[in-house]
Amino acid sequence: MNTLIFDTDDKLGEAAANILSGLVQTKPRAVLGLATGGTPVGIYNQVVSDFKRGMFSFREVTTFNLDEYVGLPVDHPESYHSYMRHHLFDHIDLPAAQAYLPDGNASDIAAECRRYDELIDRAGQIDLQLLGLGHNGHIGFNEPAHALIRGTHVVELAEETLQANARYFQSLDEVPKQALTMGVGTILKAKMIVLVVKGADKAAIVQSALQGPITTDCPASLLQTHPHLIVLLDRAAAEKLGGTSP
Ligand code: PGA
Repeated sequence: MNTLIFDTDDKLGEAAANILSGLVQTKPRAVLGLATGGTPVGIYNQVVSDFKRGMFSFREVTTFNLDEYVGLPVDHPESYHSYMRHHLFDHIDLPAAQAYLPDGNASDIAAECRRYDELIDRAGQIDLQLLGLGHNGHIGFNEPAHALIRGTHVVELAEETLQANARYFQSLDEVPKQALTMGVGTILKAKMIVLVVKGADKAAIVQSALQGPITTDCPASLLQTHPHLIVLLDRAAAEKLGGTSP
């Protein structure tokens, strides 16, 4: 595990963007695992500005997003399809047919989960998986549970997740209660994982995830087993990490 701590949001976003952009420069056919939420916004802004300076092309890149709400129309402003278009896809030359998200409106959800896993398998290994961290230790939408699921599946969102995401909707009641998420097996199979976390409100869960026991009660703790994990934190998120560098 390689942990880097930054003083400003800009520097943190730049560092994450440099890892992503560097990969696309050296491997034009890279397979990227992408995340949504508040944390990656600055990273995508930086990637878009690098792209606009002509540093690289996404023409041969393939992307797979971690998750999508169940039952939210794809053109709803808070769908992750909309988020990705708004923050990244509309600004780069990634062909739409190579940008995958799970379809939360599929009539047969089990078949959709199988289809998504097959697409990922067919693309080969994910080269870089970008991850945020939920207050409860979730990665993607893999919520704390007695047992975790390897592949793409439907999940009931935890109360804490509904509350955290209510800021994007008119009210808590409007937040979809279910989502499709890549499973932890797929996430852990990525060649490289870049976990990005900001804010004092995440300091305790950062400490549990990176230095606590490996347990399904904190899905992010499984990342400790990954051979190529890069953790990018702001100072506030890092404040509870013990003296010895993790
Ligand atoms: P956030 O979400 O980036 O909006 O804090 C992270 C997550 O829930 O994975």
